Amino acid sequence: MDRYAVFGNPIGHSWSPFIHAQFALALQEPLQYEAILAPVNKFADSWREFVTQGGKGANVTVPFKQQAYQLAEHLTERAKQAQAVNTLYIDSKGKVCGDNTDGIGLVMDLQRLGQSLANSRILIVGAGGATRGVIGPLLQAGVRQIVIANRTLNKAQAIAASFSSQVQATDLQQIPEISYNIIINATSAGLTGERPKLEAKHMRYCQLAYDMLYAGKPTAFLAWAKQHGAEQQADGLGMLVAQAAESFYIWRGKRPEITPVLSLLAKQLTTTK
Ligand code: ATR
Repeated sequence: MDRYAVFGNPIGHSWSPFIHAQFALALQEPLQYEAILAPVNKFADSWREFVTQGGKGANVTVPFKQQAYQLAEHLTERAKQAQAVNTLYIDSKGKVCGDNTDGIGLVMDLQRLGQSLANSRILIVGAGGATRGVIGPLLQAGVRQIVIANRTLNKAQAIAASFSSQVQATDLQQIPEISYNIIINATSAGLTGERPKLEAKHMRYCQLAYDMLYAGKPTAFLAWAKQHGAEQQADGLGMLVAQAAESFYIWRGKRPEITPVLSLLAKQLTTTK
């Protein structure tokens, strides 16, 4: 049976084995997918050992996305733009290839939520790896303008500098007053129950407030967004399932359906948290 895995540290909390098992079941693809805890400074060794034992491909999560980017012999355009790899596979010539499905996962989820991205304006709060990974795919989906707002301005500027003038950088206090269609929280503030401190006025015309985190209950950012007028709110669970579906497609050439697995996962999350 073909073997796949997700590498991370820590990895015990990962939903990827559950998601890929559901995809495999639905599409009747015989495969095994496991979670591998790699030592923090030994990701490359763990990956090579996995390949020696017949591993065909892997997802890569915190803190190994940059190490996977360094390790790959071939990188897709979207991995180059993200400067990070979340999906590894071996091509027909035996080369290790790195891709990044996070951005397309977000695009697919925004579309699933009914957002039309063509000509839209998006505010992204936060300027870490999560933000860098999604800008290219959002632009490709037709987004007209992206404002990256970050507590630390120079990190937002560093990301914006890699893209066209459609992408601008600001700190949290000077966010341009534009009617943003979508406002995305890509900060890690929610991990400690906090939200980034932006002014409520930006939410006024917002059709969708999206938090890349998920918690089985509304995050502090989503609760605040609802209170201040965002029409719709969604957490990052759909993005998690969609990026996994894209990885599955890269490995197996078949596209899993997202909605049934997302419903199952949402149920699991509310009963286990
Ligand atoms: P990732 O790679 O997952 O995006 P990261 O690189 O650690 O994670 O980035 C975390 C982001 O969340 C940063 O943009 C950080 O802001 P700073 O660059 O100013 O550190 C942002 N962040 C974390 N906690 C925050 C908070 N309480 N308020 C606002 N922004 C926060």
